[in-house]
Amino acid sequence: MSSTKATAPGKIILFGEHAVVYGRPAIAAPLMHVRAQATVQTNEERGIRLFAPDLGREYWLKDARKKDPLAKAVNLILAELNLSKTPNLAVTVRSAIPIASGLGSGAATAAAVIRATYNHLSEQGPVSDATVSSLTYQVERILHGTPSGIDNTVVAFERPIFFVRQEPENRIEILDLTSPIHLLIADTGVVSKTKIVVGDVRRQWEQKKDECERLFDHCGEVARRARPAIELGDTRRLGQLMSENQSYLRQLTVSSPELETLITAAEKSGALGAKLSGAGRGGNMIALVTEGNASEVRNGLLTAGALGVLESVIG
Ligand code: MEV
Repeated sequence: MSSTKATAPGKIILFGEHAVVYGRPAIAAPLMHVRAQATVQTNEERGIRLFAPDLGREYWLKDARKKDPLAKAVNLILAELNLSKTPNLAVTVRSAIPIASGLGSGAATAAAVIRATYNHLSEQGPVSDATVSSLTYQVERILHGTPSGIDNTVVAFERPIFFVRQEPENRIEILDLTSPIHLLIADTGVVSKTKIVVGDVRRQWEQKKDECERLFDHCGEVARRARPAIELGDTRRLGQLMSENQSYLRQLTVSSPELETLITAAEKSGALGAKLSGAGRGGNMIALVTEGNASEVRNGLLTAGALGVLESVIG
């Protein structure tokens, strides 16, 4: 029985989360070694059966809820390929990316399913990264309401990006790093849903537009200044900018005591800078380290209560 596999990485936001929803620039990078995987197999049963073993779920596509993201991803491909007859398939998705932790698990899962399903069914060769990104965006819209588009872009292109949400087309620039940057990614263990935090920020923005706009401007300015620092490998500068970005995120009320504890621990153990990453209020934080001090900072984070610490080299 023929079978097609595809994977997609998790992601971190280096600069500009939340402000990016309001048109300010942001920078994100893929987590290449933490991935979601989808397998699509032609089946003998009639119809499309969906398997999500990590969630203990198994169901028919035709019975799925309208807002089921896995079903939405498969349906988008059926529509995209304009198939006259529903194929008989088993679609299985697995993910090593923790859910609701700011690492883009929803976008990565959708991107892996979209890539595998398209490549399995299409007679026109592999799907383009741009198509994976735009279809993943449509799945993200059910999960998050008003996504900026940065998560689907970074998990589809699998490169560090400078991103601006804008009409008629988002600005997407791939970043080339002259030297790699070393990050630690530490989990607070607090589950936080992007949709809820993004909705809270929207309510604040509606009530205090001037203040929020000013904070978004600062976040965007930090992302703009961070770009050459990332490209040139100026880690001291990057560290300062991460801490500055965190101060604006704190004022937007998207930090949390658990995030602050880990950020302080990282800085005290020698990190060049640290901040939350993604929607905040829980999930993961990132710390900029050097090859020399990574293990000391990792120990500091674990002692301060991090549930787990991943290491990632960007570039
Ligand atoms: C989520 O990874 C980043 C946010 O800025 C939301 C978005 O950009 O859609 C919080």
